[in-house]
Amino acid sequence: MKHLIGIEDFTKEEINELIEVSKDIIRHKEKYSEKCKGKILATLFFEPSTRTRLSFESAMLSLGGNVLGFSSTDSSSITKGETLADTIKVVSGYSDIIAMRHPKEGAPLVASMNSKVPIINAGDGGHNHPTQTLLDLLTISKKRNSLDNFTIGLCGDLKFGRTVHSLITALSNYDNVKFVLISPEELKIPDYLKEDIINRKNIDYIETEDLEKNINKLDVLYMTRVQKERFLNEEDYVRLKDVYILNNKKLEKAKKDLCILHPLPRVNEISPEIDNDPRACYFEQAENGKYMRMAIILKLLEENK
Ligand code: CP
Repeated sequence: MKHLIGIEDFTKEEINELIEVSKDIIRHKEKYSEKCKGKILATLFFEPSTRTRLSFESAMLSLGGNVLGFSSTDSSSITKGETLADTIKVVSGYSDIIAMRHPKEGAPLVASMNSKVPIINAGDGGHNHPTQTLLDLLTISKKRNSLDNFTIGLCGDLKFGRTVHSLITALSNYDNVKFVLISPEELKIPDYLKEDIINRKNIDYIETEDLEKNINKLDVLYMTRVQKERFLNEEDYVRLKDVYILNNKKLEKAKKDLCILHPLPRVNEISPEIDNDPRACYFEQAENGKYMRMAIILKLLEENK
């Protein structure tokens, strides 16, 4: 059975196809309104979410299907001691496809081993967030008309930021994408990503702590929130949380066609004063999530017929 656990579960060709289907959905929404009639999506969220859960649910409803699920562990029998494996064995009898978020890295993989229906990883701990990456790629593709030949700055919490891990992995398959990795020393990308992806594929990158000095080089700037929920002590979080705050002053040296992304939610990383700047693409990015998730649901249901 085909699941979506990590972005590497889709080839570059499949990712490009998902982007094209998403663009077609945006242009011809009515064409897709009954594609999932009679199908049920279960959203099992063991960790909070606004965008991912609601855009998945909106996606399935817009495809003519139905949704069921829970938005916190508290409202499930996990609180009584039920295992994830048992939960999935049961819910996969009630649904045709499951999108799940879990605080433990690897939980969606465990779920996939116990499921009769496709599992979609909607974020696992500080590990991966492949559907976020697919909507990020859709947004970059809409803005630049290509996923080749550009420089992206990834800024903030590159250690715990799961969206960054999946995005670096995906972009490493495109041509001439350069990375500027901007973070404090303690929040640099994990070694496994540097060894297994960046170095192994000979990707052009720099690591720096300085956003202002490097902003002029960037075609895309991907800001991230410092992931409070992954810190072992509050003091470290408080010291690091406001290291990067993007504002009008910092944007003065940026390119006129810079594309500013953020997976959201933001805390202080992007000042609201730039929300109306034409370079601010993060709310459009969040909306693209619905269309990309429609394309993902369609693909997984089709492949697992
Ligand atoms: N980007 C993202 O995953 O947002 P939520 O946590 O609100 O789902």
